[in-house]
Amino acid sequence: MPAAVVDSQIGVVRSVKALRARVDGWRAAGETVGLVPTMGALHEGHLSLVRRSNSLARRTVASIFVNPRQFAPHEDFGSYPRQEAHDLELLQKAGCHLAYIPPPEEMYPDGFQTSIAVSEIAQGLCGGSRPHFFGGVATVVCKLINQARPDIAVFGEKDYQQLLVIRRMVKDLNMPVDIIGAPIVREADGLAMSSRNAYLSSEERAIAGRLNAVLADMAAKLSAGAEVAATIDDGRAAINAAGFAALDYLEVRSADLLEPMGPGAITRPSRVFAAVIVGKTRLIDNWPAEPPAA
Ligand code: PAF
Repeated sequence: MPAAVVDSQIGVVRSVKALRARVDGWRAAGETVGLVPTMGALHEGHLSLVRRSNSLARRTVASIFVNPRQFAPHEDFGSYPRQEAHDLELLQKAGCHLAYIPPPEEMYPDGFQTSIAVSEIAQGLCGGSRPHFFGGVATVVCKLINQARPDIAVFGEKDYQQLLVIRRMVKDLNMPVDIIGAPIVREADGLAMSSRNAYLSSEERAIAGRLNAVLADMAAKLSAGAEVAATIDDGRAAINAAGFAALDYLEVRSADLLEPMGPGAITRPSRVFAAVIVGKTRLIDNWPAEPPAA
């Protein structure tokens, strides 16, 4: 695959028509296109997705759209960080070619009434505590893919269930795009990078940094053959002791279909999944565990 083209100035488009004009121009020149969907408030994790896209496609489009349909009325849609000028600088430095920043009426014009529902894989974990969430994500990602018509679209593994929901949708609806998963990018203490980390006070930030150590420890025990039920009990105790305001879920599921593992040792590649509340902020993380060699 030839290296991505380097432009001196990132372009910005705000309508489907302008987006298509740019993408069609690249296609006419024989160039491949990658899409990195985001809600802005970008950090190194998002930029790693841009770089991954650039390693696989000649051109990368990043979308910035805080999608109202994936927030429940009591959630943080209104306060979600918005920093367009800074995001554009970061995208430019990461080698992104085009930012697509549609206003809400471009994405959901008057009369909009379609939504995508992905069933089993969207149930439980984040789908259990945020029942509206994956319908909103699937609908907007389906639209973004239809709007940009990319060859590939890149998503981070921090939102692992989201990645599998999108893969399922793309397969079920025969959408002509390859979905690429990219590894979680972590801070120096292991905290998974997230736009919502910006909500944390310094005290909350210190607590948040303990989650990944608990999950890593659980994954190591599972990979050494420990029983799932006992490992979850230990993990729960460690999270309670670490000062989190609440534990939403702590589960071990198969890495491919998110089937619950246990109560005995894992028998397939799995992931430990957690959602916790720190102060008022909900954070998620996950860690892979492999069954011990027979
Ligand atoms: O992961 C996110 O930032 C969002 O859920 C996504 C995929 C951009 C859809 O709004």
